[in-house]
Amino acid sequence: MPRLTCAEWGSSPLCQLDGAIDARKCAIADDMLRSIPDTSMIPVLMSSGDLIADRRADYAEALLPDDPASAAELYEQALALAPHWTAGWYRLGDIRDKSGLSGAVEAFETALACDPADRLGASLRLDMLRDRSMADAMPPAFVEALFDQYAPKFEAALVDQLSYCGPQLMAEQIAGPVGSVLDLGCGTGLMGVELRPRCAKLTGWDISAEMLRSCRAKGIYDRLEKRDLNALPAPDQTWDLITAADVFIYLGALEKITGWVAMALRPEGQFVFSVEEHNGPEAYVLQDTCRYAHSAPALQDLLYQAGFDCRMTRAVLRMDRDAPVWGLIVLATKRDGSSPASTDGHYTARLPA
Ligand SMILES: C[S@@+](CC[C@H](N)C(=O)[O-])C[C@H]1O[C@@H](n2cnc3c(N)ncnc32)[C@H](O)[C@@H]1O
Repeated sequence: MPRLTCAEWGSSPLCQLDGAIDARKCAIADDMLRSIPDTSMIPVLMSSGDLIADRRADYAEALLPDDPASAAELYEQALALAPHWTAGWYRLGDIRDKSGLSGAVEAFETALACDPADRLGASLRLDMLRDRSMADAMPPAFVEALFDQYAPKFEAALVDQLSYCGPQLMAEQIAGPVGSVLDLGCGTGLMGVELRPRCAKLTGWDISAEMLRSCRAKGIYDRLEKRDLNALPAPDQTWDLITAADVFIYLGALEKITGWVAMALRPEGQFVFSVEEHNGPEAYVLQDTCRYAHSAPALQDLLYQAGFDCRMTRAVLRMDRDAPVWGLIVLATKRDGSSPASTDGHYTARLPA
């Protein structure tokens, strides 16, 4: 078996692995530009549970990239032996999709039927094959598994290799000391490092237990909780500042979370977040990097409707395959009941040095 290299998740090298199961694992990760679920899932997802089916899949991988038609045929044979093998269906869909063979949609649909929680993100691949996105967010099980697996390498990949600077850019927008702060999708705590000196009480929420574990080890936050931002109950307290750094790239539609933040902030409280920017007519799109990007006018309209005045700054958030990733740093201030709405929305562009 040749040594295979996982290319990247968002351009960051993830792993180099040997062996049959790892080869399939790497293939999926490479093709999706991201990683796969945590190691406890690998036997379930990456091995079919049938030795002969696994062997066929190994042969299929060895035929790639030169002969995708034969590789797909071998996967079909493997799946005839192991018809409930999620990763096999996913990989077959991937091979068909990447090589222009028919049947990619059917294969991804079967992967989704085998694992309705969708830890491999087959629904995202289906969305990429459509002209428009059907899902309004990434499957929570996919995001959770992705970041659980990614947590140990997260900072080295994102900060050291990709020059990620979202938290610093966001911190520049925050005026003065604040009392209570909620950091949504706090991850390993990079935003918390910026926030800690400016606030009295700092809480972080994230869907990934492993990201929270790395974060907890740093001792920056007063309180950390595992929460899914797509399933928040009505707020039971108010905050002075709510942040979300590099998180909304995993949430497509922002109506629900924006409405929640509007309820959870005190009047004149601040909502500061970053998004990747896109310039088309849609409010958001799922990019081929498997991250959502949002349009500035649609965001401005959403925030205005939710009761915020906002200012946006255009900036390079990080690098991706040697190209800058442009995004928006958004500072939204909750209008108090008596303030007239600002109509201009202050859209400002700032180019990097
Ligand atoms: C790219 S990381 C950014 C982490 C941190 N904010 C930073 O700037 O370093 C995205 C984080 O958002 C979290 N996340 C994504 N979707 C989420 C959701 N639906 N609920 C809670 N956390 C989520 C991920 O687990 C991950 O830790």
